[in-house]
Amino acid sequence: MGAAPLLTLFERPILAIETSCDETSAAVVVGRRVLSNIVASQVAMHQKWGGVVPEAAARAHVESILPVISEALTTASLTQSDIGAVAVTNRPGLVGALSVGVTAAKAIAYSLHIPLIGVHHLEGHLMSVLSLDEPPPFPHTSLIVSGGHTELVEIKAPGEYRIVGQTIDDAAGEAFDKGARLLGLGYPGGLSIQNAAIGGNPKRYPLPQGLSGDTIDFSFSGLKTAVLRLTEKEGANLNVADAAASLQETIVNVLTKRTMRAMERLGSDALSLVGGVAANIALRNRLSEACVAFGYTFKTPELAMCTDNAAMIGLAASYRLARGEHDGWDLDVYPNAEL
Ligand code: KG4
Ligand code: ZN
Repeated sequence: MGAAPLLTLFERPILAIETSCDETSAAVVVGRRVLSNIVASQVAMHQKWGGVVPEAAARAHVESILPVISEALTTASLTQSDIGAVAVTNRPGLVGALSVGVTAAKAIAYSLHIPLIGVHHLEGHLMSVLSLDEPPPFPHTSLIVSGGHTELVEIKAPGEYRIVGQTIDDAAGEAFDKGARLLGLGYPGGLSIQNAAIGGNPKRYPLPQGLSGDTIDFSFSGLKTAVLRLTEKEGANLNVADAAASLQETIVNVLTKRTMRAMERLGSDALSLVGGVAANIALRNRLSEACVAFGYTFKTPELAMCTDNAAMIGLAASYRLARGEHDGWDLDVYPNAEL
C-alpha cells in the first residue's frame, strides 16, 4: 500500500488567474501538477517611474489578460472545454488590477458553467510549496516575505493559518526596493540589490537590525533611513557593491534570526520560505544552512514559483474546490484583506 495522500485535491484542470499587482499571470494546474504558468511582467513599464503605478498596471492587465490565458491553455495542450474550474486572486491587491482578473475569471467560468473560486494572494504564496515533488509536512511554519508582507505563519493544515510574527512597518521586499532606489539601482529592488551585492563586502557598512529583544516581529523602516544617511555621508565615495551587500546581509540576518527563534518557540520542525523575496539566493542559502544546523526540514519553491504567479493560486484553489468550496457570480475584490 502506498503512503497516505498528502491532501485531497481537485481532479480536473483548474485555470488560475493572478493580476493583483504588476504581473499578469495565468496557469493550468491539475492536483499538484503545474501544466503551465505564464507570467507577463510589467516591470519594464514601471521601471520608468521606479515603482508600480496602479492606473498603468490595470490598463496593462486589460491588454495582456486574454493572450496570457490563451497561452496558458495552449502550453498545457488543453482547450477551454477541458477546464473544470476557474480560480482567481480577489484579495488583497490593487483594486483596478484585481478587478481585471476577477472579471475575466467570472466571464470564463460563467460561460463554461463551471465553479469559480476567489483566492487570497497570501494563501497562494503559502501553498506554492505544493508544487514541490516533496512538499513540507503539515503542520509547518512559513516565512512569507514579499513586497507588501513579512509574516511568520503557523500552518496547521491548508486553510488553518495563524500569524505569529510580522513587520510593524515596512515589508522585507519594500526594504529591498527602497534601499535599491536610494542606491541608484533599478526596480524591482530585490534582484538589483542581489546582483549589485555580488563581490561586495557585507560587513563594510553596519546597518540597524530594527527591533531588539526577544521578539519574532520585524521592523525595516529604520533600515531605509540608515541607507539614506549612509548615501548622504559617503556621497561619491559610497561603494555601491559594499552598500548593497551590507543591506542584503542585514535583511537576511534579521529574517533568519527571528525565524529560528519562532521555530523554537512554536516547537516546529519544518519551515517553508515563500513570497517574492524568497527568490533571494542569500536568504535561501542562509535559512537552509540554519535549518540543517537545527535539524529542521527546509522547503522553498523554485524561483518562478516565489515571485507572483497564477500557478500558486491554482494550487491553493485545488484543495478548497476538492472540499466543495466555491464562490458565487457576485465575487468581489478586496484591496485589503486579512489572511
Ligand atoms: O510576492 P511578490 O512577487 O509580489 C508581492 O506580492 O509583493 O514580491 C515582490 C517583492 C519585491 O519587493 C521584490 O523586490 C522582491 O519581491 N524580490 C526580491 C528578489 N526577487 C524579487 N527580493 C530579494 N531578492 C530577490 N532576488
Ligand atoms: Zn505576492
